[in-house]
Amino acid sequence: MASELTRRSFLGAAGTAVAAGTAVSALSAEAAEADNKIKIVGVCCSPRKGRTTATSLQVCLEAAGEVDPDGIKVELIELAGMAIDGSLAAGIPQQPGQKDDFPELVPKLSDPKVAGIIVGTPVYFANMSSLCKAFLDRCIVFRKNKMALANKVAGVLAVGGCRNGGQELTIRSVQTALMCQEMIIVGDGRPTGHFGATVWSGGEGDVTDDAFGMATARNLGRRVAETALRFAGGAKEA
Ligand SMILES: Cc1cc2nc3c(=O)[nH]c(=O)nc-3n(C[C@H](O)[C@H](O)[C@H](O)COP(=O)(O)O)c2cc1C
Repeated sequence: MASELTRRSFLGAAGTAVAAGTAVSALSAEAAEADNKIKIVGVCCSPRKGRTTATSLQVCLEAAGEVDPDGIKVELIELAGMAIDGSLAAGIPQQPGQKDDFPELVPKLSDPKVAGIIVGTPVYFANMSSLCKAFLDRCIVFRKNKMALANKVAGVLAVGGCRNGGQELTIRSVQTALMCQEMIIVGDGRPTGHFGATVWSGGEGDVTDDAFGMATARNLGRRVAETALRFAGGAKEA
C-alpha cells in the first residue's frame, strides 16, 4: 500500500505553482515541492517529557514518515511543561500574569499542511491525562474558527502501566472529542487492526520492549499517513 501512495498527486491536488507549470527555476521548484510535503503531527500529552508516551509516539511518527519519505514530514510536540489551562476554554478570564502556552499551538495545528494528528496520552485511571483533557478542551477554538481541524486524519495512542490498564477506553475517550472536530478517525492498521496504539510501559525494560504495543504504534502511524495521503489526493487506485 505504501508504495501506491505518492506525494505527486498531492501536489497536483494542491494546485501549486509547480504543478501548474508556471515559470519557476528547477531549484525553486524543488524547494516548493519540499515545502509542499504534508505534515503528520504527534501531540504528546504526558506531563513527563521524553518518557514512555513520547517514545511510543516517536515510533508511531517514524512509521508515518516511512510511508512516503519524500511526501511526508513528521513533528512531535510535547505538551509537558506547557501551561495549558482547560478552564480558559469555558471563558474563565485569564488571571493577571497567568501564563498560557496554548495559543502557540493554534497555527501549528491548523496549518493546512497538517494532514494528520496523532494524540498520545498516558492512561490515568483508565482515561486520558488531565493535560490531554485540557488540551482537547482548549481545541474548542478550532470549532469556533472555521472547524480548522475538520477533515484532518486523527489517530490516538495510549500508554498504560498495565497490559490491560484501560488503553482502549482511553483511546475511545480521546477519539470522541476529536470526532467533535469533524476529524477523520482511524485506528491502527492491519495486522493488529483495532482502535489505535495500545502500549504497555510496565514491563521490565524499555517501553520499546513491548513488541505488540510497538506494532500497534507503527501500524497506527502508517494508517494515519496512508489515509492522510488519500485525502490529500495522493493515492492511486488499489
Ligand atoms: C495518576 C495515574 C494514574 C494511572 N492510571 C493507570 C491506569 O489506570 N492504567 C494503567 O495501565 N496505567 C496507569 N498509570 C500508569 C501510567 O499510565 C504509565 O506509567 C505510563 O507509562 C506513563 O506515561 P509517561 O511515561 O509518558 O508519563 C497511571 C499513572 C498515574 C500517574
